Amino acid sequence: MTKINAAITAVAHHVPEYVLTNAELEKLVDTTDEWITSRTGIKERRILKGEGKGVTEMAKEAIEKLLKKRGIGPEEIDLVIFCSVTPDKIFPASANIVSAKVGMSNAFGFDLNAACSGFMYGLVTASKFIESGTHKKVIVVGADKMSTIIDYTDRQTCIIFGDGAGVVLLEPNNDGLGIQDSILKSDGTGEPFLHQVAGGSEYPPTEKTVAEKQHYVHQEGKTVFKFAVSNMADVSYEIMQRNKLTADDVSWLVPHQANLRIIDATANRMGLNKDKVMVNIHKYGNTTNGTIPICLSEWESQMNKGDNIILSAFGGGFTWGAVYIKWAYNTI
Ligand code: UT7
Repeated sequence: MTKINAAITAVAHHVPEYVLTNAELEKLVDTTDEWITSRTGIKERRILKGEGKGVTEMAKEAIEKLLKKRGIGPEEIDLVIFCSVTPDKIFPASANIVSAKVGMSNAFGFDLNAACSGFMYGLVTASKFIESGTHKKVIVVGADKMSTIIDYTDRQTCIIFGDGAGVVLLEPNNDGLGIQDSILKSDGTGEPFLHQVAGGSEYPPTEKTVAEKQHYVHQEGKTVFKFAVSNMADVSYEIMQRNKLTADDVSWLVPHQANLRIIDATANRMGLNKDKVMVNIHKYGNTTNGTIPICLSEWESQMNKGDNIILSAFGGGFTWGAVYIKWAYNTI
Protein backbone atom coordinates (compact mmCIF):
# COMPACT_ATOMS: atom_id res chain seq x y z
CA MET A 1 0.00 0.00 0.00
CA THR A 2 1.32 3.50 -0.86
CA LYS A 3 2.32 5.53 2.18
CA ILE A 4 0.02 8.48 2.85
CA ASN A 5 1.86 11.71 3.62
CA ALA A 6 0.26 14.86 5.00
CA ALA A 7 0.84 17.75 2.59
CA ILE A 8 0.04 21.43 2.86
CA THR A 9 -2.26 22.18 -0.09
CA ALA A 10 -3.28 25.77 0.68
CA VAL A 11 -2.14 28.63 2.91
CA ALA A 12 -3.61 32.01 3.86
CA HIS A 13 -3.23 34.70 6.48
CA HIS A 14 -4.87 37.76 7.93
CA VAL A 15 -3.34 40.65 9.85
CA PRO A 16 -5.33 43.54 11.32
CA GLU A 17 -5.14 46.98 9.73
CA TYR A 18 -3.82 49.02 12.64
CA VAL A 19 -0.03 49.52 12.44
CA LEU A 20 1.82 50.12 15.71
CA THR A 21 5.14 51.70 14.75
CA ASN A 22 8.36 52.05 16.72
CA ALA A 23 7.75 55.82 16.67
CA GLU A 24 4.45 55.29 18.50
CA LEU A 25 6.13 53.01 21.07
CA GLU A 26 8.71 55.75 21.68
CA LYS A 27 5.80 57.78 23.08
CA LEU A 28 4.62 54.96 25.37
CA VAL A 29 7.89 53.70 26.90
CA ASP A 30 11.53 54.74 27.24
CA THR A 31 12.81 53.27 23.98
CA THR A 32 14.03 54.27 20.53
CA ASP A 33 13.48 53.08 16.99
CA GLU A 34 17.25 52.53 16.78
CA TRP A 35 17.30 50.25 19.89
CA ILE A 36 14.32 48.18 18.74
CA THR A 37 15.57 47.80 15.19
CA SER A 38 19.13 46.89 16.11
CA ARG A 39 18.18 44.47 18.95
CA THR A 40 15.18 42.76 17.33
CA GLY A 41 14.79 43.72 13.65
CA ILE A 42 11.23 44.95 14.28
CA LYS A 43 9.94 48.20 12.74
CA GLU A 44 6.20 47.78 13.22
CA ARG A 45 3.51 45.32 14.25
CA ARG A 46 -0.25 44.96 13.70
CA ILE A 47 -2.86 45.37 16.46
CA LEU A 48 -6.49 44.20 16.40
CA LYS A 49 -8.62 47.03 17.73
CA GLY A 50 -12.27 46.91 18.77
CA GLU A 51 -14.11 45.66 21.82
CA GLY A 52 -15.23 42.04 21.73
CA LYS A 53 -12.92 41.10 18.88
CA GLY A 54 -10.86 38.06 19.79
CA VAL A 55 -8.36 35.90 17.99
CA THR A 56 -11.07 34.00 16.08
CA GLU A 57 -11.97 37.21 14.20
CA MET A 58 -8.56 37.08 12.50
CA ALA A 59 -8.63 33.30 12.10
CA LYS A 60 -12.06 33.47 10.45
CA GLU A 61 -10.79 35.92 7.83
CA ALA A 62 -7.76 33.73 7.11
CA ILE A 63 -9.78 30.48 6.87
CA GLU A 64 -12.32 32.06 4.51
CA LYS A 65 -9.47 33.19 2.21
CA LEU A 66 -7.97 29.69 2.36
CA LEU A 67 -11.22 27.92 1.47
CA LYS A 68 -11.80 30.30 -1.43
CA LYS A 69 -8.26 29.74 -2.76
CA ARG A 70 -8.64 25.96 -2.56
CA GLY A 71 -12.14 26.11 -4.02
CA ILE A 72 -13.79 24.04 -1.32
CA GLY A 73 -16.69 24.61 1.05
CA PRO A 74 -16.44 24.85 4.85
CA GLU A 75 -18.49 21.68 5.30
CA GLU A 76 -15.68 19.67 3.63
CA ILE A 77 -13.29 20.29 6.53
CA ASP A 78 -13.20 17.41 9.00
CA LEU A 79 -10.78 18.65 11.67
CA VAL A 80 -9.63 22.05 12.97
CA ILE A 81 -6.62 22.42 15.28
CA PHE A 82 -6.38 25.94 16.70
CA CYS A 83 -2.92 26.81 18.02
CA SER A 84 -2.88 29.89 20.24
CA VAL A 85 -1.90 31.27 23.64
CA THR A 86 -4.65 33.90 23.40
CA PRO A 87 -7.87 31.95 22.73
CA ASP A 88 -11.15 33.87 22.72
CA LYS A 89 -12.02 32.17 26.01
CA ILE A 90 -10.54 29.51 28.28
CA PHE A 91 -13.44 27.38 27.07
CA PRO A 92 -15.02 26.49 24.75
CA ALA A 93 -12.13 25.99 22.36
CA SER A 94 -11.46 28.68 19.77
CA ALA A 95 -11.48 25.80 17.24
CA ASN A 96 -15.18 25.31 18.01
CA ILE A 97 -15.94 29.04 17.96
CA VAL A 98 -14.24 29.62 14.59
CA SER A 99 -15.82 26.47 13.12
CA ALA A 100 -19.25 27.92 13.90
CA LYS A 101 -18.28 31.34 12.48
CA VAL A 102 -17.03 29.85 9.21
CA GLY A 103 -19.64 27.09 8.89
CA MET A 104 -17.28 24.11 9.26
CA SER A 105 -20.21 22.10 10.54
CA ASN A 106 -18.69 18.64 9.90
CA ALA A 107 -15.40 19.31 11.65
CA PHE A 108 -14.41 18.37 15.14
CA GLY A 109 -11.78 20.62 16.66
CA PHE A 110 -9.64 21.46 19.63
CA ASP A 111 -7.13 24.05 20.84
CA LEU A 112 -3.45 23.37 21.26
CA ASN A 113 -1.11 25.45 23.38
CA ALA A 114 2.63 25.10 23.01
CA ALA A 115 3.43 28.83 23.07
CA CYS A 116 5.55 29.98 20.12
CA SER A 117 6.11 26.39 18.93
CA GLY A 118 2.35 25.74 18.92
CA PHE A 119 1.83 25.92 15.17
CA MET A 120 4.53 23.30 14.56
CA TYR A 121 3.11 21.04 17.27
CA GLY A 122 -0.33 21.48 15.66
CA LEU A 123 0.98 20.72 12.20
CA VAL A 124 2.61 17.48 13.37
CA THR A 125 -0.50 16.47 15.36
CA ALA A 126 -2.69 17.16 12.31
CA SER A 127 -0.38 15.14 10.07
CA LYS A 128 -1.06 12.00 12.14
CA PHE A 129 -4.80 12.22 11.40
CA ILE A 130 -4.02 12.43 7.67
CA GLU A 131 -1.32 9.73 7.66
CA SER A 132 -3.59 7.28 9.47
CA GLY A 133 -6.20 7.73 6.74
CA THR A 134 -8.97 8.78 9.12
CA HIS A 135 -9.16 12.45 8.04
CA LYS A 136 -8.86 14.04 4.59
CA LYS A 137 -9.02 17.80 5.09
CA VAL A 138 -7.51 19.29 8.22
CA ILE A 139 -7.06 22.97 8.99
CA VAL A 140 -4.27 24.08 11.31
CA VAL A 141 -4.62 27.63 12.61
CA GLY A 142 -1.71 29.56 14.13
CA ALA A 143 -3.09 32.79 15.55
CA ASP A 144 -2.59 35.16 18.44
CA LYS A 145 -3.92 38.46 19.68
CA MET A 146 -0.83 39.15 21.76
CA SER A 147 -1.87 42.76 22.38
CA THR A 148 -4.37 41.47 24.98
CA ILE A 149 -1.62 40.03 27.21
CA ILE A 150 1.06 42.68 26.72
CA ASP A 151 1.86 45.37 29.26
CA TYR A 152 2.38 48.54 27.22
CA THR A 153 4.44 50.04 30.06
CA ASP A 154 7.02 47.20 29.94
CA ARG A 155 9.57 48.22 27.32
CA GLN A 156 11.18 44.79 27.20
CA THR A 157 8.05 42.96 25.99
CA CYS A 158 5.76 45.54 24.37
CA ILE A 159 8.19 46.23 21.55
CA ILE A 160 8.27 42.61 20.46
CA PHE A 161 4.75 41.27 20.04
CA GLY A 162 1.94 41.79 17.52
CA ASP A 163 -1.37 40.28 16.39
CA GLY A 164 -1.96 38.04 13.37
CA ALA A 165 -3.28 34.74 12.03
CA GLY A 166 -2.06 32.17 9.52
CA VAL A 167 -3.75 28.95 8.40
CA VAL A 168 -2.83 25.90 6.36
CA LEU A 169 -4.85 23.05 4.90
CA LEU A 170 -3.44 19.53 5.11
CA GLU A 171 -4.53 16.80 2.71
CA PRO A 172 -3.27 13.29 1.85
CA ASN A 173 -0.44 12.98 -0.67
CA ASN A 174 0.64 9.69 -2.29
CA ASP A 175 3.64 11.06 -4.21
CA GLY A 176 6.07 11.34 -1.32
CA LEU A 177 5.50 15.08 -0.87
CA GLY A 178 4.41 16.86 2.32
CA ILE A 179 5.68 16.42 5.87
CA GLN A 180 8.77 14.20 5.91
CA ASP A 181 10.11 14.44 9.46
CA SER A 182 9.78 16.38 12.70
CA ILE A 183 11.63 16.86 15.97
CA LEU A 184 9.56 18.35 18.80
CA LYS A 185 10.96 19.05 22.25
CA SER A 186 9.94 20.63 25.53
CA ASP A 187 11.45 21.43 28.91
CA GLY A 188 9.09 22.67 31.63
CA THR A 189 11.93 23.94 33.79
CA GLY A 190 11.93 26.97 31.46
CA GLU A 191 8.49 28.03 32.72
CA PRO A 192 9.56 30.91 35.03
CA PHE A 193 11.43 32.71 32.26
CA LEU A 194 8.48 33.18 29.89
CA HIS A 195 4.96 32.90 31.20
CA GLN A 196 1.66 34.55 32.14
CA VAL A 197 1.34 34.12 35.89
CA ALA A 198 -2.39 34.55 36.45
CA GLY A 199 -5.67 33.77 34.73
CA GLY A 200 -5.47 30.00 34.96
CA SER A 201 -6.37 27.61 37.79
CA GLU A 202 -3.19 28.27 39.79
CA TYR A 203 -3.86 31.98 40.18
CA PRO A 204 -7.39 32.74 38.95
CA PRO A 205 -8.23 36.39 38.26
CA THR A 206 -8.65 38.54 41.36
CA GLU A 207 -8.33 42.27 42.02
CA LYS A 208 -4.83 41.53 43.33
CA THR A 209 -3.67 39.64 40.22
CA VAL A 210 -4.96 42.44 38.02
CA ALA A 211 -3.36 45.14 40.18
CA GLU A 212 -0.06 43.27 40.07
CA LYS A 213 -0.23 42.97 36.27
CA GLN A 214 -0.04 39.20 36.43
CA HIS A 215 -2.19 38.74 33.33
CA TYR A 216 0.56 40.04 31.11
CA VAL A 217 3.48 38.24 29.50
CA HIS A 218 6.45 38.05 31.82
CA GLN A 219 9.70 37.40 29.96
CA GLU A 220 13.29 37.30 31.15
CA GLY A 221 14.54 38.24 27.73
CA LYS A 222 18.25 37.55 28.10
CA THR A 223 17.70 34.01 29.43
CA VAL A 224 15.09 33.17 26.81
CA PHE A 225 17.37 34.59 24.11
CA LYS A 226 20.24 32.34 25.21
CA PHE A 227 18.10 29.17 25.14
CA ALA A 228 16.37 30.18 21.90
CA VAL A 229 19.60 30.77 20.00
CA SER A 230 21.18 27.45 20.92
CA ASN A 231 18.10 25.22 20.80
CA MET A 232 16.56 26.57 17.59
CA ALA A 233 19.90 26.37 15.77
CA ASP A 234 20.67 22.88 17.14
CA VAL A 235 17.32 21.35 16.25
CA SER A 236 17.36 22.88 12.75
CA TYR A 237 20.82 21.43 12.13
CA GLU A 238 19.79 18.08 13.62
CA ILE A 239 16.83 17.69 11.24
CA MET A 240 19.09 18.46 8.26
CA GLN A 241 21.67 15.91 9.41
CA ARG A 242 19.14 13.19 10.08
CA ASN A 243 17.63 13.65 6.60
CA LYS A 244 21.06 13.98 4.93
CA LEU A 245 20.26 17.50 3.68
CA THR A 246 23.07 19.91 2.83
CA ALA A 247 22.58 23.67 2.80
CA ASP A 248 22.28 23.46 -1.00
CA ASP A 249 19.41 20.97 -0.66
CA VAL A 250 17.35 23.34 1.53
CA SER A 251 15.20 25.79 -0.44
CA TRP A 252 13.75 27.75 2.50
CA LEU A 253 14.07 28.13 6.24
CA VAL A 254 10.79 29.26 7.80
CA PRO A 255 11.82 30.43 11.27
CA HIS A 256 9.66 31.61 14.13
CA GLN A 257 9.94 35.42 14.07
CA ALA A 258 11.00 36.27 17.65
CA ASN A 259 14.21 38.20 17.07
CA LEU A 260 16.23 38.74 13.90
CA ARG A 261 19.41 37.83 15.77
CA ILE A 262 17.95 34.39 16.66
CA ILE A 263 16.90 33.87 13.03
CA ASP A 264 20.39 34.81 11.78
CA ALA A 265 22.07 32.46 14.26
CA THR A 266 19.83 29.58 13.11
CA ALA A 267 20.48 30.27 9.42
CA ASN A 268 24.24 30.48 10.06
CA ARG A 269 24.27 27.15 11.86
CA MET A 270 22.45 25.59 8.89
CA GLY A 271 24.89 27.23 6.47
CA LEU A 272 22.07 29.06 4.65
CA ASN A 273 22.36 32.35 2.81
CA LYS A 274 19.96 35.10 3.85
CA ASP A 275 18.07 34.82 0.55
CA LYS A 276 16.77 31.39 1.62
CA VAL A 277 15.33 32.63 4.91
CA MET A 278 11.78 33.92 5.24
CA VAL A 279 11.84 37.09 7.34
CA ASN A 280 8.89 39.43 7.90
CA ILE A 281 9.59 40.33 11.56
CA HIS A 282 10.12 43.98 10.55
CA LYS A 283 6.43 44.20 9.53
CA TYR A 284 4.65 42.11 12.15
CA GLY A 285 6.96 41.53 15.15
CA ASN A 286 6.34 38.28 17.01
CA THR A 287 2.79 37.05 16.43
CA THR A 288 3.57 33.89 18.48
CA ASN A 289 1.57 31.08 16.78
CA GLY A 290 1.05 33.21 13.69
CA THR A 291 4.66 33.68 12.59
CA ILE A 292 5.32 30.49 10.60
CA PRO A 293 1.99 30.18 8.73
CA ILE A 294 2.01 33.92 7.92
CA CYS A 295 5.48 33.47 6.38
CA LEU A 296 4.30 30.42 4.38
CA SER A 297 1.37 32.45 3.09
CA GLU A 298 3.46 35.48 2.14
CA TRP A 299 6.09 33.35 0.37
CA GLU A 300 3.61 30.92 -1.24
CA SER A 301 4.29 32.06 -4.81
CA GLN A 302 8.06 31.63 -4.34
CA MET A 303 7.88 28.00 -3.21
CA ASN A 304 7.91 25.24 -5.81
CA LYS A 305 6.71 21.65 -5.80
CA GLY A 306 9.44 19.43 -4.36
CA ASP A 307 11.26 22.25 -2.51
CA ASN A 308 12.83 21.18 0.79
CA ILE A 309 11.49 23.49 3.51
CA ILE A 310 12.55 23.54 7.16
CA LEU A 311 10.26 25.09 9.79
CA SER A 312 11.86 25.95 13.12
CA ALA A 313 10.70 27.56 16.37
CA PHE A 314 11.46 28.15 20.03
CA GLY A 315 9.11 29.50 22.69
CA GLY A 316 7.63 29.49 26.15
CA GLY A 317 7.47 26.19 28.01
CA PHE A 318 10.20 25.91 26.92
CA THR A 319 9.08 24.30 23.68
CA TRP A 320 11.00 24.01 20.44
CA GLY A 321 11.44 21.93 17.33
CA ALA A 322 11.80 21.66 13.58
CA VAL A 323 9.71 20.17 10.78
CA TYR A 324 10.98 19.05 7.36
CA ILE A 325 8.51 19.42 4.48
CA LYS A 326 8.70 18.69 0.76
CA TRP A 327 6.47 21.43 -0.68
CA ALA A 328 3.56 19.86 -2.55
CA TYR A 329 2.36 22.39 -5.14
CA ASN A 330 3.16 25.25 -7.48
CA THR A 331 1.12 28.42 -7.39
CA ILE A 332 -0.47 29.16 -10.76
O1 UT7 B 1 9.06 34.06 20.94
C1 UT7 B 1 9.23 33.55 22.19
C2 UT7 B 1 10.62 33.51 22.61
N1 UT7 B 1 11.12 34.83 22.90
C3 UT7 B 1 12.28 35.21 22.43
O2 UT7 B 1 12.92 34.48 21.71
C4 UT7 B 1 12.80 36.55 22.86
C5 UT7 B 1 14.21 36.43 23.32
N2 UT7 B 1 14.80 37.66 23.85
C6 UT7 B 1 15.04 38.76 23.10
O3 UT7 B 1 14.66 38.83 21.94
C7 UT7 B 1 15.87 39.85 23.70
O4 UT7 B 1 16.41 39.38 24.92
C8 UT7 B 1 15.10 41.18 23.99
C9 UT7 B 1 14.77 41.84 22.66
C10 UT7 B 1 13.86 40.91 24.78
C11 UT7 B 1 16.01 42.12 24.73
O5 UT7 B 1 17.22 42.35 24.01
P1 UT7 B 1 18.63 42.17 24.72
O6 UT7 B 1 19.64 42.49 23.70
O7 UT7 B 1 18.69 40.80 25.33
O8 UT7 B 1 18.59 43.29 25.81
P2 UT7 B 1 18.81 43.15 27.37
O9 UT7 B 1 17.62 42.57 28.00
O10 UT7 B 1 20.15 42.53 27.62
O11 UT7 B 1 18.91 44.66 27.79
C12 UT7 B 1 20.03 45.50 27.42
C13 UT7 B 1 19.74 46.90 27.91
C14 UT7 B 1 19.28 46.98 29.37
O12 UT7 B 1 19.79 48.14 29.93
P3 UT7 B 1 21.12 48.10 30.85
O13 UT7 B 1 20.77 47.21 32.00
O14 UT7 B 1 22.21 47.57 29.99
O15 UT7 B 1 21.29 49.53 31.23
C15 UT7 B 1 17.79 47.09 29.26
O16 UT7 B 1 17.21 47.73 30.35
O17 UT7 B 1 18.68 47.46 27.13
C16 UT7 B 1 17.65 47.93 28.02
N3 UT7 B 1 16.37 47.76 27.34
C17 UT7 B 1 15.88 48.68 26.47
N4 UT7 B 1 16.37 49.86 26.05
C18 UT7 B 1 15.64 50.56 25.15
C19 UT7 B 1 15.50 46.72 27.40
N5 UT7 B 1 14.44 46.96 26.60
C20 UT7 B 1 14.67 48.16 26.01
C21 UT7 B 1 13.94 48.93 25.07
N6 UT7 B 1 14.47 50.11 24.69
N7 UT7 B 1 12.76 48.53 24.55
